[in-house]
Order: sequence, then C-alpha cells, then structure tokens
Amino acid sequence: MLEIKNLHAYYGAIEALKGINLTVPDGKIVCLIGANGAGKTTTLKSISGMVKHTGSISFNGEDITKENAKHVNKAGVIHVPEGRLVFPGLTVYQNLEVGTISWHGFMGRASFEEDIEKVFSLFPRLKERRDQQAWSLSGGEQQMLAIGRGLMARPKLLMLDEPSMGLAPLVIEEVFRKIREINEQGISILLIEQNAKKALENSDYAYIIEQGQILFEGPAAELEHDDRIARAYLGNFAKKA
Ligand SMILES: Nc1ncnc2c1ncn2[C@@H]1O[C@H](COP(=O)(O)OP(=O)(O)OP(=O)(O)O)[C@@H](O)[C@H]1O
Ligand SMILES: [Mg+2]
Repeated sequence: MLEIKNLHAYYGAIEALKGINLTVPDGKIVCLIGANGAGKTTTLKSISGMVKHTGSISFNGEDITKENAKHVNKAGVIHVPEGRLVFPGLTVYQNLEVGTISWHGFMGRASFEEDIEKVFSLFPRLKERRDQQAWSLSGGEQQMLAIGRGLMARPKLLMLDEPSMGLAPLVIEEVFRKIREINEQGISILLIEQNAKKALENSDYAYIIEQGQILFEGPAAELEHDDRIARAYLGNFAKKA
C-alpha cells in the first residue's frame, strides 16, 4: 500500500502541492484527476524523489519520503512518465532491455527473457515490431512500449502519467483495457489523468486535484456522475481564461 500524508512540493519558491493525502491500497486502481497545472505530475515526481517535498510517503510500510528514484524503483514503485518517453533511436526490444538495466541491475538472461515474453503477450503488437525503432511506432504503440518498459522492472505499483494523452478514442479504449489487465495480474495502479470520464470508468477510487490541493475524493463509480467534476474543470478554465 502507498500512503501519502500532508505532501507539500516546491519548485524554488513555488509551492506546487499544498498538503496532499492519498492512499493506493494493494491491488487497486486509484486515479488522480485534474486540469492542466493542477499538480498531478508533481505528485508522481514527489513519490519518485524527483522534486523537493515535505510530508510523508510510505510504501508497504517502508518510509520512502526522502529516497531517490533508484531506491523507490527498487522498492517496487515504477513511474511511467508523461509524454511516453521512449528512446526513439532504439528498437522496441532495446527499449525494453534498457529499462530493465537502468531500474534493477540486470537480473540475468533467463528472467529477462521471461519478463519480455510477458510484455509481448500483453502487447502482441510490440512483439511484431520488436526490431523496429521506437520513433516509427504509432502514438498508441509508443504508449504501450512505455508501459511495457515499466513492467520490465517488475513493479508492485505502476504509476502512469496521462497514458491517454494525445491518443485517438479507440486507442484510448485499448490502453485502458491493458491497464486493467495489468491490474488483474495483481499490480496496483496509480493513474494520473485529465480524461476524467475514462479514468473514473477504469478506477476503483478517485481523487480530484486542483491547484495543488485535493478538492474531493471517493469511489470512482460514485464520482462518475458527480457534477462537481465538471465544475472543478470549468472553474480552472475560468481562472486561466
Ligand atoms: N520545473 C518546474 N519549475 C517551476 N514550476 C513548475 C515546474 N514543473 C511544474 N511546475 C508548476 O507546478 C504546477 C503543477 O505542475 P504539474 O506538472 O504537476 O501539473 P499537472 O497537473 O501534471 O499538469 P498537466 O496536466 O499539464 O501535465 C504548475 O503550476 C506548474 O507550472
Ligand atoms: Mg502533468
């Protein structure tokens, strides 16, 4: 279980998070939704030790508040960054390979082959394109590759930053189907999304963030038709306009 208490995060003098409390129970899909600039990515970066923050973050009872990304990864928390950052000049296979090496230390050829086969069985299209350079994949395939690379590190908790960003509706459906399949294998998911509808349809529990604070939270099924969600977005747009 991931437990975040009173998380504040800072970029220099800017306080991007103002006291976030959030929990991801084992085996669940929890989403954090909000508009541009709300603090979603900053929340993930705080967990991964990539921004200055205070408060407390624990994973399966271990205090990881002050740990760096490498340690957090080793504890089983894997961050798939926004913008599907794959290595464009490397092949699909190499992207998966590089991911494992940088996160875990190499675990040996046998377990590598086993892990990559698991990723290929989840994403058959990646298998068909295993020797193709990543830049030549479609947006959806690149997103699958970014997720697949995360899976190579054998996560207990997979954190996905806007996996639906910039994808066509049918591809978004497919990405969310895959996320559920991953979850059914026992991996907990912390899902960051601007696409509130899709996120709520595919999560167990949801938090709505605005300007660095959680506005409200609840079981995703209950929030799906909650008009406070629309208002949270409209409010934000109004302020930005
Ligand atoms: N490197 C940075 N330096 C200064 N301010 C930053 C930096 N990164 C983010 N911020 C600010 O912190 C706030 C939260 O940004 P964050 O990236 O967490 O938002 P987000 O919810 O992920 O938005 P988006 O949906 O656009 O990705 C914003 O006001 C943003 O301008
Ligand atoms: Mg973001």
